Amino acid sequence: MRRQRIGSLEVSALALGTLPFGKWVDDRTSFAIMDRFAEAGGTFLDTSNNYVFWDGGTGDESELAVGRWLAARGNRDAMVLATKVGARPLTPGTGLDNAEGLSGDTIRRAAAASLERLGVDHVDLYYSHIEDRSVTLEDTLGGFASLVREGKVREIAASNHATWRFERARAVSRANGWPAYAAVQQRYSYLRPRPNVTLPEGGHVHMTDELLDYAAAEGDVALVAYSALLAGRYRDKPLGQEYDHPGTTRRLEVLHQVAAELGATVNQVVLAWLLRQDIIPLVGATSVAQLEETLGALEIKLDDDQVDRLDSAA
Ligand SMILES: NC(=O)c1ccc[n+]([C@@H]2O[C@H](COP(=O)([O-])OP(=O)(O)OC[C@H]3O[C@@H](n4cnc5c(N)ncnc54)[C@H](OP(=O)(O)O)[C@@H]3O)[C@@H](O)[C@H]2O)c1
Repeated sequence: MRRQRIGSLEVSALALGTLPFGKWVDDRTSFAIMDRFAEAGGTFLDTSNNYVFWDGGTGDESELAVGRWLAARGNRDAMVLATKVGARPLTPGTGLDNAEGLSGDTIRRAAAASLERLGVDHVDLYYSHIEDRSVTLEDTLGGFASLVREGKVREIAASNHATWRFERARAVSRANGWPAYAAVQQRYSYLRPRPNVTLPEGGHVHMTDELLDYAAAEGDVALVAYSALLAGRYRDKPLGQEYDHPGTTRRLEVLHQVAAELGATVNQVVLAWLLRQDIIPLVGATSVAQLEETLGALEIKLDDDQVDRLDSAA
């Protein structure tokens, strides 16, 4: 599988999300999915210290499942492990309005707990999962810097951040001689929600044109796109009202045309479109068959005319 860079890390061009593992997907299936991903050359695994805290979960489940797989396969060094901090509710049964946040002390405590659950001595990429404007960026970035210094974390990144906050955080890191965020993980796919619509998934922040422009100008900010498959809504689930606008009709029309031309699925064209922009799709799968379809996207070559048609449908 092709590789991308996130700071000093080399990661696979596709990342595998593990959110449902240990909770909705049992070890037998989740191990088979991770085995197939690794066999295909995938290295970049994404989890969090809060998957999944809702629906009666604690938030420990996904990290524990990934930890069990790494221990069973003995392949920790072959994988690039990413986890997140900041969006775990302080009390089980509560939500993001009661999240742990991003103080330096919280970050250090949460990292120790994640390392324990994953059964590893370091994670490769550590994200701030959501913003916490109640603490200073110096406190947050100083906390991350101490973890990098101690070798518990190799690179840091942010998720669900406004572009200006991401830029300010990087400026604070640079001013202090600390490691800076090397990647941003936001929601992104080919279909775009209506401007200013509230996304039904609490906490999701969409990639903006401004962020894409910022990353292109900086040159050292990797983009990771979650929910690139719209959680299955390109296939068998209805699109939410947030995608109910004329641009969706036009984009779906081109998407289906291009898929037919290539003998590919719509999911694969969406992923190929992201890959061509050097954006890392962070995909979920609850069966090996779903992952097989995703892996097929790596074989798709969009020509310039197809990219033009896809890009110009708005
Ligand atoms: N930073 C954040 O705030 C944030 C937020 C959300 C997610 N994430 C990360 O991103 C990862 C992926 O998120 P996501 O699950 O929303 O992304 P996604 O890749 O858009 O959706 C994956 C889901 O789509 C369905 N699917 C996938 N392939 C399919 C296929 N070939 N046919 C039919 N259905 C298919 C499956 O749902 P069914 O099992 O229902 O069929 C699968 O669980 C997560 O695991 C997590 O690591 C991060």
